[in-house]
Amino acid sequence: MPTHKKGLEAVIPDRIQTERLLLRPWVLEDVGDVLLYATDEEWGRFLPLPQPYGEEDARRFVATQVLLNWHEHPSWAIEHQGSVLGGINMRLFLGGRIGEIGYSISRSHWRRGFATEAARAVVNSAFHSCPDLLKLRAMADFRNQASIRVLEKIPMQREGVLRLNQLTRDQLVDEVWFGLLRSEWIPD
Ligand SMILES: CC(C)(COP(=O)(O)OP(=O)(O)OC[C@H]1O[C@@H](n2cnc3c(N)ncnc32)[C@H](O)[C@@H]1OP(=O)(O)O)[C@@H](O)C(=O)NCCC(=O)NCCS
Repeated sequence: MPTHKKGLEAVIPDRIQTERLLLRPWVLEDVGDVLLYATDEEWGRFLPLPQPYGEEDARRFVATQVLLNWHEHPSWAIEHQGSVLGGINMRLFLGGRIGEIGYSISRSHWRRGFATEAARAVVNSAFHSCPDLLKLRAMADFRNQASIRVLEKIPMQREGVLRLNQLTRDQLVDEVWFGLLRSEWIPD
């Protein structure tokens, strides 16, 4: 897959190998692994997802990821030891100048550095392979300390709070926004 083109023609690799993880495109067979973690209410606490989360929701999620246009919205399943333990994606805006990342990891694998490892790999791969990309950004529910910590560690800067800007479980919540400019990026 070509990796050094301009704008939205630039393509971030569809397979990214890290020390412990393989980031690779979603396939329909991943529904079972997603169901194993996404039915956990605690996992979905800060996510705008249906509750209770069922098999149809997992099928719809995976099918949506498979159908995304890779040039505009790459989305990787995060695989560890042959199983999918989460996902990470990067949606592109403004002709590929801004990318927005989001991620999740199954609760049984929390606090082992997997989200940080996956997010760092996507940041590095994105800036390396997309020359027009000038900024990466991400947003977290202000109560989601784990996600905020991941963003601090990759390392993004806290840019501001949008008050009551997201609807999660029928409640409007504040969003904390983070960003990393290409000029601040220190390649691995
Ligand atoms: C947010 C999430 C992806 C973090 O995944 P993770 O693999 O556990 O994160 P890491 O192990 O890389 O941890 C990164 C940092 O967060 C800290 N952290 C993890 N869970 C935490 C918690 N519940 N409270 C406070 N800090 C936490 C870790 O200690 C680590 O910081 P440290 O190195 O300074 O100790 C995971 O909790 C998750 O998937 N949650 C549900 C989905 C979600 O909220 N996604 C984010 C949407 S914006």
